[in-house]
Amino acid sequence: MPEIVLQGVTKRFGAVTAIDNLTARILDREFFVVVGPTACGKTTLLKLLAGLIRPDRGQIYFDGVLVNDIPPRQRGVRMVFQGQDYALYPHLEVYHPERWSNLSFPLRLHGERVGGIHARVQKIVQRLGIHPDWFPRKPQELSEGQKQKVALGRATVLTPKVFLLDEPLSHLDPPARAKAREEIRRLHEELGTTTVYVTHDLAEAFLVGDRVAVMRAGRFLQVATPKEIRDHPADAFVAEFVRAYREGLKRAFET
Ligand SMILES: Nc1ncnc2c1ncn2[C@@H]1O[C@H](COP(=O)(O)OP(=O)(O)OP(=O)(O)O)[C@@H](O)[C@H]1O
Ligand SMILES: [Mg+2]
Repeated sequence: MPEIVLQGVTKRFGAVTAIDNLTARILDREFFVVVGPTACGKTTLLKLLAGLIRPDRGQIYFDGVLVNDIPPRQRGVRMVFQGQDYALYPHLEVYHPERWSNLSFPLRLHGERVGGIHARVQKIVQRLGIHPDWFPRKPQELSEGQKQKVALGRATVLTPKVFLLDEPLSHLDPPARAKAREEIRRLHEELGTTTVYVTHDLAEAFLVGDRVAVMRAGRFLQVATPKEIRDHPADAFVAEFVRAYREGLKRAFET
């Protein structure tokens, strides 16, 4: 839950049109992947869905309810941010069952008791491979990959309605990345959320997405299943994007 509809959504930053009259429908419980080159508007799209920024024009609906003016906290949305700090709380340790910590924070805020907090965190920690040795550390004492895992954990200790992931695995090595990708997919099924997952990586998009949107300059060029995009690219840009990716992979293994 829920179904997300964007209708003619535009977001500008000065002269830059980051999202350009975008209309789309993301289905209830869908794992929807947005893939596209840098600066095409992926993060801006997630921030609009999270309510961190407001569209200049157009409407965003969750299950038919206009959410343009609904603040982030009331949307039931969780976002895992791209970049250095992943919006982790820098002054709080990774986890302590009886204190405000990165992993216990959403549960405490929700009024959960210590026993409930501990049970839930244990489950998430095991699933994501967050090591207990990290619990007393502050975010700056973790590697990038470790921080990403903690950010994923914090975003899922409370079941979100909408789960937004901005390049959540970019700092993991390929085997860890494959494993984490499967865990995210499993979490998605288990939580019954609608997930919007942003990546640069077309192979990742194809492996994990129910449907994939290929984005360029604030618009979706094609929204379809991985197979449809691969076999029937909607236009020359999508065809070239797929071809270049495939060629790149092939060459890496042949030379
Ligand atoms: N707060 C802002 N102020 C000014 N310009 C912005 C702001 N946020 C984004 N932009 C611009 O909007 C465009 C889209 O940015 P966005 O961060 O959504 O791209 P992206 O697809 O997430 O890129 P990347 O793959 O590099 O993360 C870019 O040209 C960017 O410079
Ligand atoms: Mg981005």
